[in-house]
Amino acid sequence: MSETVPPEALGWSARWLAIARPRSTLAASLLGALAGFATAAAILGCGPPRTLTAVQRGEVVYRTNCASCHNRNPNLPGALGPAIAGSPRALIEARVMHAAYPPGYHPQRVTHLMRPLPWLEPHIGDLTAYLDSVSVRH
Ligand code: HEC
Repeated sequence: MSETVPPEALGWSARWLAIARPRSTLAASLLGALAGFATAAAILGCGPPRTLTAVQRGEVVYRTNCASCHNRNPNLPGALGPAIAGSPRALIEARVMHAAYPPGYHPQRVTHLMRPLPWLEPHIGDLTAYLDSVSVRH
């Protein structure tokens, strides 16, 4: 015996499901399409990932690791450290890696408050580029 029951015979919930299912499928695909558009718009809007220059990376590293003691403007002395804009790479490397100085260098200050920050080794070139780019002594 065939058990095909028409939705009308099953009450309102079955009838609603019979009607709603195709609609929800449509709604789901519309939502999917919208999500797809949103993703595409977000990607297109932001463009490809931005590649920072050495100067830009150096600025970020300086502001997060050095500016608190030196100065947000490296041409000016800071709370603890002297002005260091335009410092040569050898000096920056000696300070950041070992809190030392290149041979024969006469330090601006002798408080020994600066600690080495050796984990910044990959950014010594960036710091040098940034400190050179902002120097007013060009
Ligand atoms: C805790 C504070 C502090 C932090 C953080 C700090 N410095 Fe210093 N820096 C000093 C002080 C103070 C001196 C002066 C030497 C001394 O007394 O230690 C100095 C000296 C220097 C000098 C030598 C200046 C000269 O011509 O005699 C350079 C270059 C330098 N710092 C670079 C940096 C860089 C780059 C960073 C960040 C990666 C940094 N410092 C982070 C406090 C700090």
